[in-house]
Amino acid sequence: MTGTAGAAVGSGATSAAQSLATVGLTKAFGGVTALDAATVTFRQGEVNALIGPNGSGKTTFFNCVTGMIRPDGGRTSYRGEEITGRAPHLIARAGIGRTFQLCRVFPRMSALDNVLVAARSGGLWNGLRGARRRAEVDRARGWLTRLGIEHLADVEARNMSWGQQKLLELAGVLMSGPETVLLDEPAGGVNPALLDRIGSLVRELNAEGRTFVIVEHNMDLVMSISDHVVVFDRGRPIAEGPPSVIRSDERVLGAYLGV
Ligand SMILES: Nc1ncnc2c1ncn2[C@@H]1O[C@H](COP(=O)(O)OP(=O)(O)OP(=O)(O)O)[C@@H](O)[C@H]1O
Ligand SMILES: [Mg+2]
Repeated sequence: MTGTAGAAVGSGATSAAQSLATVGLTKAFGGVTALDAATVTFRQGEVNALIGPNGSGKTTFFNCVTGMIRPDGGRTSYRGEEITGRAPHLIARAGIGRTFQLCRVFPRMSALDNVLVAARSGGLWNGLRGARRRAEVDRARGWLTRLGIEHLADVEARNMSWGQQKLLELAGVLMSGPETVLLDEPAGGVNPALLDRIGSLVRELNAEGRTFVIVEHNMDLVMSISDHVVVFDRGRPIAEGPPSVIRSDERVLGAYLGV
């Protein structure tokens, strides 16, 4: 479906189909403007990156577009359909999954149970009841295998390394079958071996048709896996383009280095 007049938002400046898009998204916390009328378009079927200095509004952007916090103004659409103001579970149902900068797993549950529970919107009990269903268990194990942590299936999440917990959180997100995945700093605090795995996994999952929007400070990872990069500074985009262009953009260097 192409963007329908009226419902569609976004700059419309790109030829690729729109995935997640915002127009004038604004959010202030007291006197701090976290998002300053941000108008952004991410591309369907691509690996998009959202980069920018600390405090530039990246996580707030994810929180607003996934319905976790209410923006003060502006609109959000997904694949041309307006989703502004929808509750998080409805946005998830529309096909958007996300991970958190401070990874969210149940520390005293096994890795396998974490994946089973994460996939179910009915809460913990429904999740555990569903866990008895063989097909679900097989699917959950399949994701653990895909992420290279199947040997930890029976280990409590709190006994896994930070990087392993991040992979576990991602397994839970993937279990619910999102078409679009938002990752908030997947490489943060992760050791180099797991970093490579995350990078190649994103490319594989993208080749299978998933769209990604990745917030990340590790520039090597961003530049090696992204098709399209959006750069935030002080709550709004200041540049966008392919990695090769972004790498040498003066505004980007200025935002990061303060020059
Ligand atoms: N819940 C909140 N209450 C008050 N201020 C907040 C809140 N969340 C974010 N902020 C402020 O909004 C601004 C943007 O923060 P945000 O976390 O979105 O940045 P970020 O780009 O994700 O940064 P980082 O790269 O460090 O994760 C910052 O000045 C931050 O202190
Ligand atoms: Mg952040």
